[in-house]
This record gives sequence, C-alpha cells and structure tokens, in this order.
Amino acid sequence: MRVTVQRLQEMKRQGTRFAMLTAYDYAIAKLLDGAGIPVLLVGDSLGTVMLGYPTTLNVTVEDIIRHTQAVVRGSTQALIVGDLPFLSYQASIEEAIRNAGRLIQEGGAQAVKLEGGLSVAPTVRRIVDCGIPVMGHIGLTPQSVHQMGGYRVQGRTREVALRLLDDASALEEAGAFSIVLEGVPAPLAERITAQLAIPTIGIGAGPHCDGQVQVIHDLLGLFTDFVPRHARRYADLGAVIQTAVGQYAADVIGGAFPSEKESFSMDEQVLSELVEAIKPDSHD
Ligand code: KIV
Repeated sequence: MRVTVQRLQEMKRQGTRFAMLTAYDYAIAKLLDGAGIPVLLVGDSLGTVMLGYPTTLNVTVEDIIRHTQAVVRGSTQALIVGDLPFLSYQASIEEAIRNAGRLIQEGGAQAVKLEGGLSVAPTVRRIVDCGIPVMGHIGLTPQSVHQMGGYRVQGRTREVALRLLDDASALEEAGAFSIVLEGVPAPLAERITAQLAIPTIGIGAGPHCDGQVQVIHDLLGLFTDFVPRHARRYADLGAVIQTAVGQYAADVIGGAFPSEKESFSMDEQVLSELVEAIKPDSHD
C-alpha cells in the first residue's frame, strides 16, 4: 500500500515531518523507496539533471510520463507525484486536466504537481474535481525563470510576501493537498506553514516547513554543474563514480579485467573440435 495524500495531511496534524526526493529512473526509485522515502517526485528538474538542458522549459509531458513509469515500476510504498511541465497546464483548463490525467493514467502517478498560485487556482480546482490530487508549488518557480529574471529567492519584499501568503491560501482553498515552497525566506515559509492545514514542503525555504524536498542528484553529488545553496551533499557519488570508472579503464588497459572469474569456460572437447574445424587446411 502506497503512502496516501491523507497520510501526509495526518502527518502535518501530528507534527511529523517528512522527506521527499526527486526520482527519475527505476534503479534510484527502488533505492529511495526501499529506504522508506514516503514521497517521490518525478520533477521537471529531470530536464537539467538527466537530459542536460539549461532550464526545465524543454521538458515535455512525454518525458515526465516515461520517467514516471520507471519510478512507479521501481517503487511499492512511496506516493509518486508527476510534475506537469511548462505549457502543459497553462494554455487551458481542459488541456491541464488532460495532461494531469495522462500522468496518472499512462505514467502511473498518484498525484500531480504544478507551479503557480492564485492564477492557477481554478485549474487546480478542476483537476482535483476530476479526482486527481494536486501538489502546488510557489515561490521560486523555475518554469517562470525568465519572468523572475533568474533563479531568485521570492518573498523578500512586503508586497511579494503578501502575495505568496494569498497564493498559498488560494491553492489550499482550490483543493491542493500540499504545497512546495521553493526559494522563500525561512520566516515567511514558517508563516505560510502555520496558516495552512495542508503540509508545506520546503526547498530553500528553511526548517519550519512540514516536509523537505531535494533533487536527488544534489543530495548525492551526481550533478556537478553547480550546487544550489539550499542543497546539502550527503554523499559524493560523482567522485565515487569517477574513481570506479578510472580503475575499470586502468584494469582494461593493463589486462587485469576481465579475469577468469569474469569469463566463461567452454567444454575442452568442443574446443578441440572447433580448433580442428577452423584449421586453414580443414576447409580444403
Ligand atoms: O522539478 C523539481 O524537481 C521540483 C522540485 C525542486 C520541487 O519541482
């Protein structure tokens, strides 16, 4: 039985914090699920950390579906949230419902996430009315990178902070089951968390959120282009991988790999018959 959206809300009521991580493939999903991570997000961050795009704007619904399918196959207990990518929910509510439905029906996710506050609240309401749980995402919303003028912390001014408080309430009223707060000053995230009955999940939003989310590549040191200030490296798998592949290459070059242990034997009789058969004069 997977973690449910109701369970996350119960955790908020009980004051139990939870960890969420991104996952994009079967092998990593299996490890994270096995470690008991209750929520796995197939984020559009896959555009940068998996596909090498400079932003998340190139990610398509098909990309998210393909990776969600892999994450679902690799997990049994986590709630899987599929991210609605740029332009998959903004053009019309009908399109948003259809794409949210695809992440559930084709991808196998149990919930979807989308960016925005007050302006997307009617869309959230209609998707929720279709029976699809929606996770909101406000603050630093990477799909609006060009409008924000870069990846900047949001809510440092009174005006923007008030807007974010309103955005959070609008999403809750529209039926969102939780809200990601990204790149928001910690005291503001604390206020938003206190004002909502649904859980907040922070990323660069301080310690007072109900949950925290991180991009798995940042946590494990697998993405080396840059390390966001909000991330903490719990392992340097990038270095581990480079050492391992360097050793492998050296063993190949030096003849130490493969050894007999990594090779397959052949029946002696068959071998001698083969040698006989391929002797140059045996073809005469
Ligand atoms: O795409 C993503 O990984 C996200 C998280 C950073 C919340 O939206």
